[in-house]
Amino acid sequence: MRIPFVAGNWKMNLSVDEAVAFLDDIKGKLPDPKVTETCIAASPLFLESMIKHNADSPLIIAAENCFYEDTGAYTGETSPAALNEMGVTHVIIGHSERRKYFNETDDIINKKVHAAFRNHLTPIICCDETMSRRQSADRISWVVSQVTNALKSVTSDQAKTIILAYEPSWAIGSGKTASTDEAEEGCYLIRQTIADLYSDDIANQIRVLYGGSVNDENADDIMAQTDIDGVLAGGASLKPDSFLNLANFL
Ligand code: G3P
Repeated sequence: MRIPFVAGNWKMNLSVDEAVAFLDDIKGKLPDPKVTETCIAASPLFLESMIKHNADSPLIIAAENCFYEDTGAYTGETSPAALNEMGVTHVIIGHSERRKYFNETDDIINKKVHAAFRNHLTPIICCDETMSRRQSADRISWVVSQVTNALKSVTSDQAKTIILAYEPSWAIGSGKTASTDEAEEGCYLIRQTIADLYSDDIANQIRVLYGGSVNDENADDIMAQTDIDGVLAGGASLKPDSFLNLANFL
């Protein structure tokens, strides 16, 4: 039985004060992590304050991105080693907005996945799908290739720990959520790719999330799908009440 994983991605929103106030608002209201794991990914500017303020809470604090080197002359980048030292445990890698605005390729994403493992961070690897890709003949191979390329040289022991997300960019921020069938199909494709790369056991062990205009109204139906183990919400994670509604769906 896979433990559901409900995550929020704040992107470049809120302030440090609002981030800390959010943690105060949800304190004591999250589900038992044995029932549902909950996670917030936030700006690197917020993480230290959030980690200090998050003591005794089951909430996982994640980074939204990291660089693929641990140290060096990389102005403005976020060191995975420093994230680990700060107490961050998870990191989103390969979000469609990183691919779109920062030209992150599958190769860069694979290097970041290895940097995350090198620094004891659990990767939350996102697979994108643009509308043009969705309407093209190579739609399925596009999702499959992102997973395959992101996991190059990742061992079975490492693969058992990863979290993957099907995040079609045509649904992100648009208010147009994928249907439950579309979301299930994307997550099924990802899980089957893991089975092909590693084993059925590992494929059945890892969590696969859906992200793209998830909200209080549609989350239950989405998370009820066979191959969907949770959500990665953007807008719906910015307010304590809506995040708590997602977190306490069971
Ligand atoms: O990483 C999750 C995010 O891209 C989804 O955003 O606002 O469509 O829930 P949103």
